[in-house]
Amino acid sequence: MKKSWYKEMAVYQIWPRSFKDSNGDGIGDLEGIYEKLDYIKSIGVDAIWFSPLYPSPNADYGYDIADYMDINPEYGDMETFKKVLNGAHERNMKVFMDLVVNHTSTEHKWFKEACKSVDNPYHDYYIWRKGKGKDGKQPPNNWLSTFEGGAWEYVESVDEFYLHVFTKGQPDLNMDNPKVRQEVKDIMKFWLDMGVDGFREDVITYISKKEGLPNGFPIPVACGMEHYNCGPHLYEYLKEFHDDVLSKYDCFTVGEGPLITPEKVLKLVTEDDTQVLKTMFSFDHLEADCLMTDWIKKPFSLKKMKKCYQKWYDAMNGKGWHTLYLENHDHPRIIDRYGSLKYRVESGKMLATMCYLQKGTPFIYQGQEIGMTNIELHSIDEFKDMVTFNNQIMFSKFGIKGDRFVRMANKGSRENSRTPVQWDNSEYAGFSTVEPWFNLNPNYTEINVAQAEADENSILNYYRKLLKFRKEHEVAIYGDFKQYYENSNELFVYERNLDGEKVLVVCSFAEKSVHFKAPDGIDLSKGELVLNNYTINPVNHNSFVTRPYEARVYYFKEV
Ligand code: NOJ
Repeated sequence: MKKSWYKEMAVYQIWPRSFKDSNGDGIGDLEGIYEKLDYIKSIGVDAIWFSPLYPSPNADYGYDIADYMDINPEYGDMETFKKVLNGAHERNMKVFMDLVVNHTSTEHKWFKEACKSVDNPYHDYYIWRKGKGKDGKQPPNNWLSTFEGGAWEYVESVDEFYLHVFTKGQPDLNMDNPKVRQEVKDIMKFWLDMGVDGFREDVITYISKKEGLPNGFPIPVACGMEHYNCGPHLYEYLKEFHDDVLSKYDCFTVGEGPLITPEKVLKLVTEDDTQVLKTMFSFDHLEADCLMTDWIKKPFSLKKMKKCYQKWYDAMNGKGWHTLYLENHDHPRIIDRYGSLKYRVESGKMLATMCYLQKGTPFIYQGQEIGMTNIELHSIDEFKDMVTFNNQIMFSKFGIKGDRFVRMANKGSRENSRTPVQWDNSEYAGFSTVEPWFNLNPNYTEINVAQAEADENSILNYYRKLLKFRKEHEVAIYGDFKQYYENSNELFVYERNLDGEKVLVVCSFAEKSVHFKAPDGIDLSKGELVLNNYTINPVNHNSFVTRPYEARVYYFKEV
């Protein structure tokens, strides 16, 4: 497998609205990010991925873009962005932008033009169809949006419906139009020429829709998805972006594609010249405590999660590069889900160990490094996200309403990861000087960056050690992966091997004690205990009994 900087890096994701407010309007901004660059660097990451920073009416908090070549005035301006970009580069950190080109905002000038008439040159930038029924007012097919009711919206001025597979404010672009593809390439060039180092490509697997837009299999959300997820021209369009633009820069790309499988990823992410994306995010490791969506909870199954990691490793190893993450802006926080609030610090460290010492590029989401947790909201009025409101309508059809729905949202909604970052225990958590745009988690008085800095044993300081270890040991980056205890419901045990070096990772997902015996051929006394989340580490006869959510990492040279 070829070595490369993007395989060796770790990435920090910023969801700008909730990162740090510098101007006292309750909304995170670029100056706030600038202030925190040293902190970000200190975690041991090599790059920042910014969730959208562009002008947006916020139907989907930035994922509805009104101008791809500018900065949202709520966050600052282009000068401040360049200052952040240079500041990151001066600290040896790369910068990746979110590239959201499956859809624009309805406020984008292209869409405004498109609505003027069917003859407008921008009309064909979007996906329009005549309505059905006698009055022509019925949607063109049965597709449903993932975020907001039906997938079609009628526009009187052109007497047609436009497609939006997300909110009504996010009309899908017509990627079959070469002019749209040229616009995408221009956007890429614009940012790369400015010095940006790559892109996270939002729902990039949705950009090619099946010809004829046939009816979808009738499911209550995202009906029709089988006709646009990994559609007919996906590879061809990504290859065009790659060959015409991306290949000319030493840049990184990571694609997002819901319900993606290794087979599909390996068509896009390869190690040879058919490669169109450097890597992709997969999702199924985050489905070990739910059924397809975070909203439908099931008890956490360690076995299910381990199988998933194994499946991806087996499929990708030697053929393509993978990503490692536990949190982002689309999912509830991980400690509440796979760890334990009672053992927040121990399980926060254990989860990071389990995840980031596998093979792939680590992505860490803001606040994860201090062990931020989910918030408890008390009424539907406190929620902000269209997805929550759409689910409110959908689940009410199944009798889940009122307080019961609020409880469900508290567990399942992605808003949990969008509460402001907790910087210190002062009023408004050091995030802002005024009431923030979204509720702070009241636990900020105990869980915050200042506390974590002051505590040698904090989750934050553990992340620092963990990322440093990964960076300094090629075996942790390029080594082969092999699991032990596959059938255990309590332990996740694996080793990494490379050229005579070995890393053994032992993670307990249990509160109760579990007996761990080193696998045959491994002598713990010959290894160096390089990472651990408890201070005293007894070993007897090559075995130990785990403490709640214990994690240990042994390093062996010359095995
Ligand atoms: C995936 C993004 O991560 C999510 O936040 C967004 O709502 C959808 N794509 C639509 O852009």
